[in-house]
Amino acid sequence: MSQIAERNSTDTLHDEVARRRTFAIISHPDAGKTTLTEKLLLYSGAVELAGSVRGRKNQRHATSDWMEMEQSRGISITSTSLQFDYQGCRLNLLDTPGHQDFSEDTYRTLMAVDSAIMVLDAAKGIEPQTKKLFDVCRMRNIPILTFINKLDQPGYYPLELLDEIEQVLQIEAAPMNWPIGDGVDFQGVYDLQHQQVLRFSRTEHGSRRAPVEVSSIDDPKLAEVLGEGAAKQLREDVDLLSVAGTTFDHERFLTGKVSPIFFGSALNNFGVETFLQALLDLAPPPGPRGSTSGEVDIDAPFSGFIFKIQANMDPQHRDRIAFLRICSGRFEKDMAVNHQRSGKQLRLTRPVRFFGRERETIEEAFPGDVVGLINPGAFIIGDTISADGPVEFEAIPRFQPEHFASVRNVNVAKYKQFHKALGQLEEEGAIQVLNPFGSHRTDPILAAVGELQFEVVQARMQSEYGVETAIGRLPYTHARWIAGGDDVLSNITWPSNTVLRARDGDDHIVALFSSEWQVQYCIENNPGVEFRTVG
Ligand code: G4P
Repeated sequence: MSQIAERNSTDTLHDEVARRRTFAIISHPDAGKTTLTEKLLLYSGAVELAGSVRGRKNQRHATSDWMEMEQSRGISITSTSLQFDYQGCRLNLLDTPGHQDFSEDTYRTLMAVDSAIMVLDAAKGIEPQTKKLFDVCRMRNIPILTFINKLDQPGYYPLELLDEIEQVLQIEAAPMNWPIGDGVDFQGVYDLQHQQVLRFSRTEHGSRRAPVEVSSIDDPKLAEVLGEGAAKQLREDVDLLSVAGTTFDHERFLTGKVSPIFFGSALNNFGVETFLQALLDLAPPPGPRGSTSGEVDIDAPFSGFIFKIQANMDPQHRDRIAFLRICSGRFEKDMAVNHQRSGKQLRLTRPVRFFGRERETIEEAFPGDVVGLINPGAFIIGDTISADGPVEFEAIPRFQPEHFASVRNVNVAKYKQFHKALGQLEEEGAIQVLNPFGSHRTDPILAAVGELQFEVVQARMQSEYGVETAIGRLPYTHARWIAGGDDVLSNITWPSNTVLRARDGDDHIVALFSSEWQVQYCIENNPGVEFRTVG
């Protein structure tokens, strides 16, 4: 490449990266994630995509349909990415199923984003799944913007919500706007940054934009417009915030220490547009990513890692799609890359992008983008590929399983298929498989982050491998990996003989406990032994 051509191509890369925002939305079921996603898509003009978001959520909830394998492929498609443009920016929204189909996939997706939006229901505050997902974001200190939803309904007092965020999540909460009244008396928000009052008016659900009138807090008309009581309360709140509230600091936001808080109502389109604007202004574009040999800059030669594998997405092709997050350089169709784990060269001939059920071949992509690769059997989760030299991104952690079940092969003649299926599903990351020892139990044990993974695995073993299984839920709730080998094991003092020991796919020893108390007992009574939460 000539020097000029090379400079032009570097400029293009920098421009493309600067306009990208790769993010996920985390929330507890029913907080309004689907509604907010739809509204973000509507504002960006991606109307068709917006329609399909709700459709797919409903499909996910239709349990009878869900058991149909094709329908369950529908579930998984939602956990990839939506790409759309807004005001010259390219947004990659990686979906994290946070509902019944909560699984390790959900967590891993958070390893591939640069920021996250946390949606809370104003009447519920922090709920269990919000907390779990937040903790995963915290592992990487990624920036989090918070949208407190459903302001049109009665909710907690805003200061209580901020306090809860700070106490439960241990992150500073910096309000960017402030609600005026709540429930039926909700009148709008005061934009603390721009010192404006955005007035809320109830509109038909789903209409594109709620009318917004703007005036200033010092406007003498304020009391006239909001009413004497609301105007007074607002002035008091704003005074209190200026003394006791957390102020937003962009640097602290970028390292995950402070979250900007926006109040609004997704269903009523209230505050969504300003929120989307804040996402563009505040959320970072893709940046350098840690590898085992130091940080890889976005303008280094092409590199990326696999964060998700989905087998048999298209039942007619029975193929396996590996989802790649691009970290550096320009990705081109047909490019030859080094595959770090095997040391082999691969040609990426069929890169695809998904729109609902449709797939489309792509010619090029940039850091922050997600590309589906159809290279049978080549990849496992966490693999790094790069155009130049050995690069290896930091490993994607395994997450702590909380649900356990034994899996029995019903038809012994299918012995081989049974083990092949378990092996492949584990490789794909759908489930962890543990083999118990020193007990009467001989059937393999499935360990999962979300309960629904058992049903998914059982249904897939039947439909994809022709293997019928019986699943038996087990009472264990905690798994701890024991550092060291069998010598360590023989000296451990156990709380009771109900603790089950097993080996994982890498032959590491895992102990399964049925209460937190048992785990604590082990830690306290075996000071020299390390009990790790992940393998
Ligand atoms: P999720 O993806 O986080 O599970 O939540 P989703 O968006 O599906 O929203 C859950 C419910 O909350 C939906 O009602 C939705 O309409 C409602 N909702 C979302 N945003 C707001 C809001 O700002 N104000 C109010 N009042 N409600 C909101 P649903 O009856 O369960 O479903 P649907 O019949 O509307 O689909």
